[in-house]
Amino acid sequence: MTKIPNLSFTMPVIMLCTRSFMLLITFLTGFSMSGLAQDKLASVDLKNHFWYKNAVIYNLEVSAFKDSDGDGRGDFTGLTQKLDYLSALGVDAIWLAPFQPSPGQDDGYDVADFYAVDKRLGTGGDFAEFVNQAQIRGIRVIMDLVINHTSTQHQWFQEARKSKTSKYHDWYIWSDKLPKDYKVGMVFPGYQEAVWSMDSVSGQYYYHRFYQFQPDLNYANPEVVREAQKIIGFWLNQGISGFRLDAVPFIIEIPKGPGNNPKLDYKFLTDIRQFAQSRKADVVILGEANVVPEENLNYFGKGGEGIQMMFNFYVNQFLFYALASGKLEPFKKALVETQIIPDASQWAHFLRNHDEVDLGRLTEKQRNEVFEKFGPDKNMQLYDRGIRRRLSTMLGNDRKHIELAYSLLFSLPGTAVIRYGDELGMGDDLRLQERISVRTPMQWTSDKNAGFTTADTAFRPVIDFGEHDYKKINVAAQTRDSSSLLSWTTTLIRMRKACPEIGLGDYTVLDTGSPDVLGLRYEHNGKSVVILHNFSDQPQQTNFSVKGADILYDLINNDDKKPVAGKYNVSLKGYGYQWFRVNQLIPN
Ligand code: GLC
Repeated sequence: MTKIPNLSFTMPVIMLCTRSFMLLITFLTGFSMSGLAQDKLASVDLKNHFWYKNAVIYNLEVSAFKDSDGDGRGDFTGLTQKLDYLSALGVDAIWLAPFQPSPGQDDGYDVADFYAVDKRLGTGGDFAEFVNQAQIRGIRVIMDLVINHTSTQHQWFQEARKSKTSKYHDWYIWSDKLPKDYKVGMVFPGYQEAVWSMDSVSGQYYYHRFYQFQPDLNYANPEVVREAQKIIGFWLNQGISGFRLDAVPFIIEIPKGPGNNPKLDYKFLTDIRQFAQSRKADVVILGEANVVPEENLNYFGKGGEGIQMMFNFYVNQFLFYALASGKLEPFKKALVETQIIPDASQWAHFLRNHDEVDLGRLTEKQRNEVFEKFGPDKNMQLYDRGIRRRLSTMLGNDRKHIELAYSLLFSLPGTAVIRYGDELGMGDDLRLQERISVRTPMQWTSDKNAGFTTADTAFRPVIDFGEHDYKKINVAAQTRDSSSLLSWTTTLIRMRKACPEIGLGDYTVLDTGSPDVLGLRYEHNGKSVVILHNFSDQPQQTNFSVKGADILYDLINNDDKKPVAGKYNVSLKGYGYQWFRVNQLIPN
C-alpha cells in the first residue's frame, strides 16, 4: 500500500525550513526584512522584452514580388534574391500573404492544404532557404494563418460533403434547411450573394462568412481546434516567428452564423496563444480584427493573455478621414480611445494593406468626404465601405502628402506595417477586379515587365501606364536617387528605429495650438520624443509647451528649438512634419 504523507505533519516542517532559510539569508546579507515596507512586489517591465512591440513589418505576396524562373509568377527563390533590398530598407519582419496550395479564387485566402507550399511558388526546400536567409539578415518571417475557413476544394470539405458519417462532416457548419437570415452578414456585399449555400453533393446548406467557395470551419468541434494547433506547430517548426491571424472575430463566433446571437469565445485566443508560445516563446499572433475600442481588451486579454497584437483598424479609418478632410479631432479621439492596452500587447498601425481601405466605422457623412477626396469614381470604391486604391494614387501622387502620411504612420504608437511597393509610391490598376487592383507586380527596373519576370507575360499585369508606370517608378531608378521616395523612406525607417519610445513608451497628444497640427509626445526610460504633423496643405504655426523640455533637438534638420516664455513656436510647411528629441540629441 502506498503511504499517503501526513500533510498536517509535513506542512509545519516545510514552513520551519523555509523560515530558517529566510533567517539564514537575513543573517548572511545583514538585511532586515522587517525594516522594509513590503506592500508590493517590484513590477516586471514587459514592454522592453518583445521584438514585435517596436518593429517594422513589410507585407508582401510571394507571387507578386519577384519571379526567379521565368514562369511569370513570383516565387520563394525570387524573394530570397531580394532579401538584401529589404534588409537595406530596414525591415524587421516580413509578413507573407498566403502561400499554400489554393485554387486562387480569393488570391490564396482559400487554402486547399495547410501543410504545404504552393508548387508555383517553389518547393518546401525553397521556403526553408528563404527563411534561413532571412534569419541570417536578422529578418523574421510571419505568415497569414487563414483558419476561419478552407477552400471548397480542400480534402476536408470534399470528404465532409460525401457523408454525414464522415469524420470531416462536423468540421464544417451545416443546415438541412435554408436559414431565414441567409442573406445577412456578407463580408463582400455586391460580390457575395449569401452566407449559406446549397452543397449539391451533401444536399445540405453550408455556412460561409466569406465567398461561397470558403466554407467556415466549425471551431465548436475540438478536433478542428486540435488541427489548428497542429498547423501552428507545423509552421513554427519551419522557422516562422508568428502569424497574421485572418478574420479573428469570425473564428471565435459560437455558434457560427448570423442572427443566432453568436457569442464570441475569446478564450480560444488565449488557448492558441498559449499553444503557440509553448512551441516558441517569442511568437506573435497579429490579429485581423476590425473592432470597436470597448472590445480591445477582450482580444488582447485584460492582462495581455490574449493575442499579442492587432491591427488598429479603428485608428486607420479616422486617420484616412483626417488625411482627406484635414479635420483632426476624430483621429485624436480614436488614438486616445485605443490608448490603454496591456504592457505586453501592441498595436500594428498601417496605411494600406492588400484589401480595400475599410471606412465602415465612419459616419456616412465622413465616409462620403473620404470617397469624394480619395475615391470619387464608383470603380474606385468597393463593398459600399471602402476604396480599392493604393496610397499614392489616393493622394494624387503628391509627394508632400505622401511623406506626411508615412511620417505619421511611423510615429504612431505601435509597430508599423508597410505594404510592398509603397516605399516607391507604386500605383494601382483599377482594371483588375475587386482588391487585386492593389496587388500588381513589384516594380524593380525599367526593363520589360518591370524586371519582375523575364517571361513575356507576367501572371498579373504590371503597371505600364500613367504616372505610376514602372518605367517611371521602380527600385533601380530610386536607389540611385538620393531624393527619391525610396531613399526618403529608408531614412525615415532609420529615424524611427532611433526612437524606440514610439513603440515602447507612454504617449500624450499635445495641444499644439493649431487645429491642423497633431503633436505626439512619447516618453520611455527617461527619454522622450515630440513629433508634429501638419495635415493642412498650408503653412501652420504652433505654440505649445513640453513639460521638462529645455530644448527640442530637430532630428531632420539642424534647427533646434528653445522655448520662449515656456512655449515652443514651431512653423510647419504645408503637409510638413517635424521630429524632435527632448533635451538630448543622441541619448545615452
Ligand atoms: C481577410 C483577408 C482578405 C480575405 C478574407 C477571407 O479579410 O484580409 O483578403 O479575402 O479574409 O479570407
